[in-house]
Amino acid sequence: MILITGATGTIGSEIVRQLAAREVPVRAVTRDPARAQAFEGIDVVRGDYGDAESMTAAMTGAEAVFLVGVLGPDDADTDRALIATARAAGVRRIVKLSAIGTGEPDLGRVGTWHLPGEQAARESGLEWTVLRPSSFASNTLSWADPIRTGQPVPNLTGEGAQGVIDPRDVAAVAVESLLSAAHTGRTYTLTGPELLTTADQAATLAEALGHPIEVADIPEELARQHMLTAGMSAEYVDGALAGQAYVRAGGNAVRTDDVRTVLGRPPHTYADWAVDHAHAFRPVPARS
Ligand SMILES: NC(=O)c1ccc[n+]([C@@H]2O[C@H](COP(=O)([O-])OP(=O)(O)OC[C@H]3O[C@@H](n4cnc5c(N)ncnc54)[C@H](OP(=O)(O)O)[C@@H]3O)[C@@H](O)[C@H]2O)c1
Repeated sequence: MILITGATGTIGSEIVRQLAAREVPVRAVTRDPARAQAFEGIDVVRGDYGDAESMTAAMTGAEAVFLVGVLGPDDADTDRALIATARAAGVRRIVKLSAIGTGEPDLGRVGTWHLPGEQAARESGLEWTVLRPSSFASNTLSWADPIRTGQPVPNLTGEGAQGVIDPRDVAAVAVESLLSAAHTGRTYTLTGPELLTTADQAATLAEALGHPIEVADIPEELARQHMLTAGMSAEYVDGALAGQAYVRAGGNAVRTDDVRTVLGRPPHTYADWAVDHAHAFRPVPARS
């Protein structure tokens, strides 16, 4: 049985779907099983990283565990504790979700958030794989409201390009890493096939939707105020802004072949993702 943490999230939910399609026994962890009703026929258990007993119960009997910590400055302790729990529960293999740029000095503090978790994975004595994906294609789902209401989508990263990756490809690499020891000791940097700016993504999505999408540059101070108003901590906001500045300066213009190496096929393009998710950006039909 494979245990998936972050199972209601972007990558975890897709891993659950892909493992179930391959008829691999899978257990999905969430703090609130009522929210995981979409997982028909899947063993869904309650687990909270802050409640070690619940995580021990969830991991007991698992051969491999997919680890999604808590993004931000709190990630370090969460990952260490989860990995210690996995060991104690007799888990053999772990796959840790990290992020591209981890350990890059120019990335600032956000580049350090996953470091202790990666280190804990490498020092765990378990079979481990670390996945460092680039920017998820699905981040642009946050554009759905402005697009529906004809507003411009926000550009926080100027002319900076990124190897935008389809979450389905991240999940597919995770699935292979969970199922086979062939990926033990590997750190994969996962990117899509093209380097894209925000304007490139907007143009691609516009083509999929069949109407233009405007892009508006957002000054850093406005972005800061927006995130603080949304309740993010000052430390988290500083990290996120440093990450955006790094991208703006071209630091994340990185493309790798790691998806192809693991899957034996090229990664999906952003255009593939946009076509498959066009429905999420269309007007919501009025209720009669
Ligand atoms: N977005 C990007 O472009 C990008 C790029 C590279 C790397 N990443 C990395 O991806 C990771 C996030 O993955 P994601 O986007 O798939 O996740 P997500 O969609 O943000 O979902 C977060 C998941 O974490 C679970 N969770 C949060 N706190 C928990 C707790 N205390 N106990 C148990 N579960 C908890 C949530 O489960 P419940 O709410 O159901 O409990 C949820 O399933 C981050 O580490 C980030 O650095 C993201």
